Amino acid sequence: MSWRNGVVYQIYPRSFQDSNEDGVGDLAGITARLDHLTWLGVDALWVSPFYPSPLADFGYDVSDYVDVDPMFGSMPDFDRLVAAAHERGLKVLLDLVACHTSIQHAWFRDHPEWYIWSQGERPPNNWTSAFGGAAWSRFQDDKWYLHSFYPEQPDLDWRNPDVVAAMQEVVRFWVARGADGFRLDAIDRLAKDPELRDDPLSDEPFGLPLLDHERGRDLRYSRNAEWIGEALAAIRDAAGDALLIGEVYLPAAKHARYLEHLDRSFVFELILSPWEPGNLRAAIAAGATGEGRSGPGAAWALSNHDFGRFPTRFGRANERAAALMLMTLPGTATLYQGDEIGQGMGPGGDPPYDRVGRDMFRHPMQWDGTPRAGFSSAEPWLPLTDPAERNVAAQREDPDSLLWFWRELIALRRDLAPGFRMLESDPGVISYERGDNVVAVNAGDAPAVVPPGEIVLATSADLSQSRKLRPGDGVLLTR
Ligand code: GLC
Repeated sequence: MSWRNGVVYQIYPRSFQDSNEDGVGDLAGITARLDHLTWLGVDALWVSPFYPSPLADFGYDVSDYVDVDPMFGSMPDFDRLVAAAHERGLKVLLDLVACHTSIQHAWFRDHPEWYIWSQGERPPNNWTSAFGGAAWSRFQDDKWYLHSFYPEQPDLDWRNPDVVAAMQEVVRFWVARGADGFRLDAIDRLAKDPELRDDPLSDEPFGLPLLDHERGRDLRYSRNAEWIGEALAAIRDAAGDALLIGEVYLPAAKHARYLEHLDRSFVFELILSPWEPGNLRAAIAAGATGEGRSGPGAAWALSNHDFGRFPTRFGRANERAAALMLMTLPGTATLYQGDEIGQGMGPGGDPPYDRVGRDMFRHPMQWDGTPRAGFSSAEPWLPLTDPAERNVAAQREDPDSLLWFWRELIALRRDLAPGFRMLESDPGVISYERGDNVVAVNAGDAPAVVPPGEIVLATSADLSQSRKLRPGDGVLLTR
């Protein structure tokens, strides 16, 4: 199987491994921990932004696209990371934040015409920022600039050929330096209506009920403009055959325009779904077989740095069944650091928002059971959640642990043949054919019978005898 259909492990660099005793993770720390990834058997790592940044949006506000923030190390550290990863057969994906820069990027000062401006007493339209409030901020008396996210993240004007050329250069820079692909941040926000028309107010939800303040609006002009294909073609042109995975916050059925140029796009229906059979089935079907899509075009995730870790949403009891589902879907599966040990929920659940802001799900990785979890010898920048209860070292010792279960799944994924088809099943059961295998997961509240076939892997040991799929159970079978 091509690595492109394998498993991508997402690393949030601040929280993976500290190597210089400042309580913050860094690139050299990632290099030092690559053996964990090879042991797990993943195919690639995706590293969230490590570029120079004032950290208004924790690295997603880039002030220099072609350097490493000193907090994370140096260019030689990056080169060493890539070399070490490639030596182990691991591919390296970077985060390309192309929609906006940091307001402190030199471009904002030296090339104001690369950004989107409006003149007048008021903002030119009703567009809102993804984080709430108007998407326009006043720059000087009657001059406004557009920001789809925080005011510290002004949007680039991709209608300007100089912007396109500058970003192509960024892509070429990292490809030449060894990057095997990119996750394209907020790519559905890149192209907006050149006429800056108001987003209509509408009772029709915009597709994905993502953020409360976006309900009741049809965001048809502030994002996803028809000309997005031109921008994507330019990125593709610079990237060559590097793997391109788009972060597209639209219903999966509406990604066709993106998939004309990109290899994959995230299926947000799954990350937003509760543990409910109807929802889960619809999410999988939309991503794998929805209009304009074919299975391999999907990238799947259950958690990432923006959303709650999935056991909080699904319940601990369903953790293994969810992992089995994720690892048997067609396309690319991404695994967020720490999910392999079930990290994230302290005894009191996820930590409160006011404590950690947007970093709610970005806690340091728990490598062992010591007070600082092997993450750092200094006080970690964000508190650990539950190192004594969940850590890599302890789970490595226990072949029945969640960590070993993920490892087995990742190994099985390599042998799965292509081909995907949803199957009819009990209302509570999600079942699909994947190549020569069948997957059945009970997300309902009543027991069901295991479908025929030999059990290859099950979430609980006694399933093979009883062949009864209790709620929260899942199996991978031969067809
Ligand atoms: C993406 C990132 C998120 C960031 C935003 C703006 O959604 O995942 O963390 O805040 O883009 O760059």
